[in-house]
Amino acid sequence: MCFFLISIIYFCYNHKRLTLIENNFILAIESSCDDTAAAVLNNREVLSNCIYNQNTIHTPYGGIVPELASRAHQSKITPIVNQALHEANIDKKDLNAIAYTQGPGLLGSLLVGSSFAKSMSLALKIPIIPIHHMHGHLLAHFIENNNYESPKFPFIGITVSGGHTQILYVKDYFDMEIIGNSLDDAIGEAFDKCGKQIGLSYPAGQQIDELAKTGDSKKFSFPISNLKGYNVSYSGVKTAFLNFIKNQEKKSPNFISENLNDICASLQYTLIKIILIKIEKIVADLNVSQIVIGGGVSANSELRKQLKNLSSLKKWNLFLPPVEYTTDNAAMIGIAAYYKLMKKRFGELTEICKPRLII
Ligand code: KG4
Ligand code: ZN
Repeated sequence: MCFFLISIIYFCYNHKRLTLIENNFILAIESSCDDTAAAVLNNREVLSNCIYNQNTIHTPYGGIVPELASRAHQSKITPIVNQALHEANIDKKDLNAIAYTQGPGLLGSLLVGSSFAKSMSLALKIPIIPIHHMHGHLLAHFIENNNYESPKFPFIGITVSGGHTQILYVKDYFDMEIIGNSLDDAIGEAFDKCGKQIGLSYPAGQQIDELAKTGDSKKFSFPISNLKGYNVSYSGVKTAFLNFIKNQEKKSPNFISENLNDICASLQYTLIKIILIKIEKIVADLNVSQIVIGGGVSANSELRKQLKNLSSLKKWNLFLPPVEYTTDNAAMIGIAAYYKLMKKRFGELTEICKPRLII
């Protein structure tokens, strides 16, 4: 009888322990810029991934207004977190950890997500996990997906977003070295600023992508910077583009509307070429054939096409994120948190947000 009881207790204890190991429910919050996002993961599996996009708030100003972004985060964070929990069918009491973006990003925006996450962790007495936004963009490739194999370390990571254009040597989940960087504008910033000049609303990347599909990419040519080493520069092409448009408009006031598709295709060709040159160079120099792409601009259809062509030609092992994980989202913060949770690398409530957090 006694043996029987001990066996039951032992079974229950182990079952609970195993259940804890098997199910790690993580709530992740991403609020670094202009998207209020929350996701729930069970280990590497995404149970919900909700985003409130602030584009309509910022579009009239032609770019992000930080104060408006913070206020929108403040009003949307509770509903988005509730929605993420609801869609995942998870009660907040079942959560094992809360993750948030610590940086880089806009301070006011980061503060909303981090304060919310810290309050929840305090109330629920569960660990908090601060995450580097750019880690999230690359680690999104480790989200469980039956049709998709995750990369193996080491690999070359390329982050192309509105705030970054970086080339990284990635040795492990949180062991990455920047080997190339934009010295000025990020590629997404160049898409957005040039798009503004031709009357497109913010953010212009996706619109340029669409318009370029029926344009001639050879119609106009813009300077393709090629700095020594692995750094890139986008300010030269941006300035050349702005001057070109102004000059053409002086000659012909309808220049933009009459050539919009060709302008977009030619601009997109140039912006993509700048990073492709570096990727080719780095693969040849470092002899690492796994290329992992992340960030909003990795949604670009022409970049994806060119990379696929290059990788089949050069026998690279290319990893392009599923489109839903290209632009900012909280699932990518959740997956990064999962790997920190596995190593018990938790944060402190006293940790501050870092707008210029470096990898
Ligand atoms: O990663 P992300 O959502 O935010 C940052 O971390 O910056 O990237 C946003 C950037 C914007 O510049 C946007 O114009 C660009 O990604 N983007 C695109 C496309 N979709 C989003 N750029 C080119 N083609 C696209 N299809
Ligand atoms: Zn991002």
